Amino acid sequence: MCVNGQTRGEIFTSLAPMRGLTTRHFMDILYDYGEPNEYISEFLRVHPTATVPADIIDLIENRKSVADLSIQLLGKDLEHFSRIAKMLQNYKIKSINLNCGCPMPKIGRKGVGGTLLTELNTIDDIISIISTSTSIPISVKTRIGYKSPQEFAIILSHLAQHKLAAVYVHARTVKGMYGEPVDFECIKIAKAALNCPVIANGDIKTAQEAVNIIKKTNADGIMIGRAAISNPWIFRQINELAGKTKIFVPGGEDYFNFIEKLQSFPNKLMLSDFQKTSSIKKYVIPISDFVDPSGDFPHCVRRATTLQDLMNICKSFFVKKYGNRHA
Ligand SMILES: Cc1cc2nc3c(=O)[nH]c(=O)nc-3n(C[C@H](O)[C@H](O)[C@H](O)COP(=O)(O)O)c2cc1C
Repeated sequence: MCVNGQTRGEIFTSLAPMRGLTTRHFMDILYDYGEPNEYISEFLRVHPTATVPADIIDLIENRKSVADLSIQLLGKDLEHFSRIAKMLQNYKIKSINLNCGCPMPKIGRKGVGGTLLTELNTIDDIISIISTSTSIPISVKTRIGYKSPQEFAIILSHLAQHKLAAVYVHARTVKGMYGEPVDFECIKIAKAALNCPVIANGDIKTAQEAVNIIKKTNADGIMIGRAAISNPWIFRQINELAGKTKIFVPGGEDYFNFIEKLQSFPNKLMLSDFQKTSSIKKYVIPISDFVDPSGDFPHCVRRATTLQDLMNICKSFFVKKYGNRHA
């Protein structure tokens, strides 16, 4: 199956939604480095007073990206799904994506996110109410079960009853959080059960792994989250590998340049230096773990308390110590 934005021989790629990380600023950086084919926004909570927030409108209307954007909704209140879906009708988006995977206990306790997998009729009802409220296509992001992968067949039998634009499968159970091994056999099962594109997600760390997973599972595309933070060139590398052209290998200066771009985000919330440092660290810690898994660099990054400190630590690691093309 060919998903939109894809030309022959290319692999369809999607940036996984990651709350607090997949911001418009990060997407604008990816625009410069090699974008995925599509983005899904971090989740927007559906509740009685919810509206489409300014940062989501900014993302829809002002991002540099040429890639499609879906907006993810998380909740279970049918009336307000209908209301928000109608509001989204005013914007150009690829799909409304339903979150059926979030494993965070504070979300799960409200019966939404991954907990919806214990209430499959509610998932049916949410999809139906969105589709009667708007003509926007609907996609679903799911895990393979709440407690056990054995639940996946029944989950798929529910999803198969609806007209869906795509199903994104994070191939772990909700209870498995992020520690359980991913089970990509489930992607084959999803492919057989569904009549829409199936996108594989979970622990895909390199371009080579992305290509292997497509071959192994016959998925229609892959979705990458954390590896795109530690290596924002990964989507470019996947296309280079699939197209059999030379693969870009980032050097120290490339990484430092990425970190400089991150710290130049517009500080609309008037964050203090400490808050800004903490927010940049959410990106720099995974980068430092990736480029120096057992070294001092991640340790120093974690201890930085000011932005100046953090930038000096990064500069000395990437530029002074390693120079370009050696990270
Ligand atoms: C910090 C963080 C925030 C996340 N936020 C969301 C979210 O808002 N919506 C969602 O569907 N998944 C969310 N996820 C899950 C990711 O989209 C993805 O499914 C998961 O990280 C597995 O993919 P990966 O191994 O490529 O990172 C989040 C994950 C992380 C680490």
